[in-house]
Amino acid sequence: MKHIKRQRIYDLLKKDHSHLLGEEINVKGWVRTRRGNKNVAFIALNDGSIIHNIQIVVDVKAFGQDELLRAITTGSCISANGLLVQSQGKGQTLEIQASDIKLYGTADPEKYPLQKKGHTLEFLREIAHLRPRTNTFGAIFRIRHALSFAIHKFFDEHGFYYLHTPIITGSDAEGAGAMFRVTTLDPKHPPLTAAGEVDFSKDFFGKETNLTVSGQLEGELGALALSNIYTFGPTFRAENSNTSRHLSEFWMIEPEMAFYDIHDNMDLAESFLKYLIRYLLEHCEDDLAFLQKMYDEELTDRLSMIIDNAFVRITYTEAINILEQSGQRFEFPVEWGVDLQSEHERYLVEQEFRKPVILTDYPRSIKAFYMKLNDDGKTVRAMDVLFPKIGEIVGGSQREEDYEKLYGRIKEMGIEEGDVWWYLETRKFGTAPHSGFGLGFERLMLFVTGMGNIRDVIPFPRAPQNADF
Ligand code: 4AD
Ligand code: MG
Repeated sequence: MKHIKRQRIYDLLKKDHSHLLGEEINVKGWVRTRRGNKNVAFIALNDGSIIHNIQIVVDVKAFGQDELLRAITTGSCISANGLLVQSQGKGQTLEIQASDIKLYGTADPEKYPLQKKGHTLEFLREIAHLRPRTNTFGAIFRIRHALSFAIHKFFDEHGFYYLHTPIITGSDAEGAGAMFRVTTLDPKHPPLTAAGEVDFSKDFFGKETNLTVSGQLEGELGALALSNIYTFGPTFRAENSNTSRHLSEFWMIEPEMAFYDIHDNMDLAESFLKYLIRYLLEHCEDDLAFLQKMYDEELTDRLSMIIDNAFVRITYTEAINILEQSGQRFEFPVEWGVDLQSEHERYLVEQEFRKPVILTDYPRSIKAFYMKLNDDGKTVRAMDVLFPKIGEIVGGSQREEDYEKLYGRIKEMGIEEGDVWWYLETRKFGTAPHSGFGLGFERLMLFVTGMGNIRDVIPFPRAPQNADF
């Protein structure tokens, strides 16, 4: 086969291709369908660079290789040379008149699971190694890329530095105890202390370690030196919550800013979320249109709703009053002091305000040790951003910068001082008011794709009883 430079289908369909019209070009990709008759075959080829296929037209008699043509079935992989021409057919602008085709890999029609007919998302989860080849998952993973890129772009444009925080840590940033242990000790015969406990001083790091639940504590160290930083990395939670909004391994974006109070923090979260959604509407039109058509008719309306509205800002106490007076029967009853469930969050956003809502000043008893205590002594300067369909998408706070108060909270909550001595020292040496938040990347992906299950917006989901692929 003659070597000709490969063209991505994206470039052919979205960029200026006029200089290629009438020229012999090469495309490579996976066959979505082959149809036709004795005289002509039409191959719809997709290379994942864009949701659209390019049509390859084969003049069967002139081409001559019947056996090769027969092997070009759904799922097979080919390289095709041919003339790029304006298409006569409906539904596409360009097509390729094949001169030569090389078959890289066949896909037995009896065995290849992704035949043309629609599959359920549940079934596709079981074949996560092949589902990127569907239109749905192609669209989702391209959006995931665009969103990641937009996140870095936003922070770069706003003077934030990307800080890489560790994945293996010896502390529990959220104090929730839902951590995966990291160890190289022999599970059958671990070394024991005199008291008969596992002796972690003999473990790889000489102490107990776990996968991080959040990069925040180290992020604060960065902010108290570089002013504005952000992290964007995987985080891990060993909670046994088998819901459509929880993963055991998820990606989190955590900006942390010196000299920001909670209001600056809320302003940043709101402008950040609006920027990301605007970016997607501008850059992922085709993929969003596909998802809207297939899964969620209101998708773009919901995205516009975020951009077009100022987020409502109320306190937790005000929210409790609204919920108590709503006359709604919630599965989890509300009273001041309870942690809000997603049914409560969604009631506020979807029924009461019909806009994104930021709740602040939660009871200290339901929030993490590092949040700044309000003067009332009862509440902390926390802020959660609530979105329609999702509930909590962002959690953050102003941080306690006062050494004595922070030390008091650490003791009160039974946190080992030896695990966080370095964190405490930033409050001893040049402490500063500062704030930050965490955005759950997959929660945002759920929102922008209109998908219903968080396992469908990450390539290889990790959830209780599930670590395949
Ligand atoms: O509210 P969280 O637990 O806050 C923190 O971890 C803070 N350290 C963030 C900070 O202030 N720097 O988690 C932050 C966000 C949540 O709002 C949610 O969007 C997401 O992370 N999240 C999860 N996403 C998927 N699966 C899970 N199990 C999640 N837990 C939290
Ligand atoms: Mg939270």
